[in-house]
Amino acid sequence: PRIVILISGSGSNMVAIADAVKNENMEAEVAAVICNRPEAAGLQKARDRDLPVVVLDHKAFTSREDFDRALMAQIDEFAPDLVVLAGFMRILTADFVAHYHGRMLNIHPSLLPKYQGLNTHQRALDDGESEHGVTVHFVTEELDGGPNVIQAVIAVNDDDDANSLQQRVQLQEHVIYPIAVKWFVEGRLSMIGNHARLDGNVI
Ligand code: GRF
Repeated sequence: PRIVILISGSGSNMVAIADAVKNENMEAEVAAVICNRPEAAGLQKARDRDLPVVVLDHKAFTSREDFDRALMAQIDEFAPDLVVLAGFMRILTADFVAHYHGRMLNIHPSLLPKYQGLNTHQRALDDGESEHGVTVHFVTEELDGGPNVIQAVIAVNDDDDANSLQQRVQLQEHVIYPIAVKWFVEGRLSMIGNHARLDGNVI
């Protein structure tokens, strides 16, 4: 299977996935890393790993629709079986999401369905949550709303702030995202209706 990874920032999840594909001898290939921000730190990390890199600056497009159409064309040049959103900070159009139905994953730093959207760590703290975490889910038209695939839970400590929570959550991101990708490329994970299915079981 061929994987295209979309990033906007530091690319640490992209690195975790690319390294797992390589080191765990997955029958898969990172066909490209595509980034919408020319200054993103993740670009160099992809180049260091000899991964094909494409920069598609959303600011060069006048509308979300135009950007998404160009992005779709660019992705499809690499003929991916799986599209991985790894800190890709763009809201996607319905056409784009529909085009990758059942073959696009995202990671979101909360225990979905809790805390969709931004500032998840601070919001979990403000609510006095005792647990927080991160979710990998299939992408559907509902923002941060597609079926969950895997979650990691962390305990919230009394002295945590948003920054410390984010750091501990990120460590878990780098554990669970490669697991989800591995399941998918091994043909064990799929989306059926609005559910994720692993090894034939609805999860
Ligand atoms: C992660 O915290 C992810 O949960 C969020 O964006 C961040 C991406 O980090 N959606 P990185 O670019 O993979 O380092």
